[in-house]
Amino acid sequence: MIALKTIFAQIEYSMSEKDFIPAPYTTLKEEGSVTYSSPSNIALVKYWGKRENQIPANPSISFTLAACVTKTCVHYKKKAQHSDEFSFDLLFEGEAKEEFKPKINTFLKRIVAYLPFLKDYHFIINTSNSFPHSSGIASSASGMSALALCFMEMEKTFLPNITTNDFNRKVSFLSRLGSGSACRSIEGPLVQWGETSSIKGSSNLYGIKYPYEVHEIFNNFHDTILLVDKGEKQVSSTVGHELMHGHPFATQRFDQAHTNLEKLGKVLADGNLIDFISIVESEALTLHAMMMTSNPYFILMKPNTLSIINEIWKFREESNTHVCFTLDAGANVHVLYPENEKDVVFPFIKEKLVPFCQNGQYICDRIGLGAKKL
Ligand code: PMV
Repeated sequence: MIALKTIFAQIEYSMSEKDFIPAPYTTLKEEGSVTYSSPSNIALVKYWGKRENQIPANPSISFTLAACVTKTCVHYKKKAQHSDEFSFDLLFEGEAKEEFKPKINTFLKRIVAYLPFLKDYHFIINTSNSFPHSSGIASSASGMSALALCFMEMEKTFLPNITTNDFNRKVSFLSRLGSGSACRSIEGPLVQWGETSSIKGSSNLYGIKYPYEVHEIFNNFHDTILLVDKGEKQVSSTVGHELMHGHPFATQRFDQAHTNLEKLGKVLADGNLIDFISIVESEALTLHAMMMTSNPYFILMKPNTLSIINEIWKFREESNTHVCFTLDAGANVHVLYPENEKDVVFPFIKEKLVPFCQNGQYICDRIGLGAKKL
């Protein structure tokens, strides 16, 4: 009996790629437009390393952000004649951006099997970010998820009976094919992606809203993003993921991510910020340690990244607060702290940390609830 129950639970929760191929459409709308705003996210347990088709080498979990968003409007018009090419214009902040087109073309190729109408339309894709252009904030998570949301909303007009759960799951699945971490941007406040035994329903194909209890200390958690270096990254995430193949510490790292996720589950439930800090900071430094120990090796942190980390450690000790940091694949620092400590922590950030930012730039963000249809 127990064995049967387990099998049914597995059937219920493990979807395959084929499940995302839609039923044939009966009607296709001639023309229309749809707009979505979709946020960025910051991983607490990091995804670094992947297999073919954007399958993560290890599970990850992130806070969805609220302020750093991409807004995308897709205008669609049925082509007079079907052609085998994708047809679209791309505008970034109102201006044509030819250099972004190959990335979108690759994305369309990867998702057309799951959205077969894509070759029947000409699209005008108009997109903009709330955060400063070339701030070093990765726009791929918010950008790819915003576009996937617009296309799914289109499909919903052809197949209106889709449930919210199925809609979100398919958007996450499609977003993942644009940029892995984008699959964690649809919902909030916490999204988990990648199969792991400690989280029921976890999948390599899409992110899920974290399904367990979360302590109220994490409500309104702050993330002040310090823009340390706005330059082009010397090594892209794509290359970084690639370098985890044959990495001398890959196996240990992937195992560690499973363990950290399990430990974080306990912390999220009981609100123990001391343990939260030790997992989150270790994850950030491990991510960068993987970069420093790959072949070829590289360093994305800058001297000011380290100065900020040292200031945070010093202040935490002196102030008895629970401010901590995490890092993306870049030099910028995400400073995390609970709402009830903001009156002490924010003045410290302004006085001691902002001087390390390029042109004094930073973004006040906080934990968010996911994408919105506009
Ligand atoms: O989604 P990608 O391929 O840009 O990879 C992002 C990886 C990290 O941001 C470094 C970690 C993560 O889990 O978001």
